[in-house]
Amino acid sequence: MTIRPLQPQDLPAYFVLRTALWPDSAADFELEVSKILNHPHLASFVAEQKGRLAGFVEVSLREYAEGCDSSPVGYLEGWYVAPKHRKTGIGRRLVQAAEDWARAKGCSEMASDSELSNTPSHQAHARLGYQEVERTVCFRKSL
Ligand SMILES: CC(C)(COP(=O)(O)OP(=O)(O)OC[C@H]1O[C@@H](n2cnc3c(N)ncnc32)[C@H](O)[C@@H]1OP(=O)(O)O)[C@@H](O)C(=O)NCCC(=O)NCCS
Repeated sequence: MTIRPLQPQDLPAYFVLRTALWPDSAADFELEVSKILNHPHLASFVAEQKGRLAGFVEVSLREYAEGCDSSPVGYLEGWYVAPKHRKTGIGRRLVQAAEDWARAKGCSEMASDSELSNTPSHQAHARLGYQEVERTVCFRKSL
């Protein structure tokens, strides 16, 4: 298993993984991936095995993140491993790549978020050393 930065030739396989995590992102895929490939404050790392992608992590630099004291903060924007590859250590290696990237950008803290109901993600974050700092409920209202 190789962990490496996303490359333009990955895009068809990357589309499959990314829309598995975020089904609503399909329409904006090309725009969002173009930003990731070209913006110095964004990065994506993929896990590749025998020429196939098994997972990815997207990471950014954010000026502020809940519970953090420093700025900028490395932020896990998206983290996904295909079901048949889970619990084999790929997710951990992807996050390590994201953390190395953020450290190289001068960050001393990482942050992330997860839906309240995604208990497996909470547990996986905890195993990787991420402490829960806040719970949030989002609201909307039509005007
Ligand atoms: C979260 C996710 C990326 C983890 O990927 P993974 O490749 O299975 O992770 P790893 O095998 O590297 O496991 C990392 C650690 O988390 C733990 N872990 C992983 N999945 C877990 C689960 N479902 N429940 C509890 N702990 C879990 C592992 O035991 C491991 O800890 P350890 O090394 O101390 O034993 C993967 O489960 C996934 O894609 N889930 C669906 C998408 C998602 O929820 N993403 C996160 C959104 S915030």
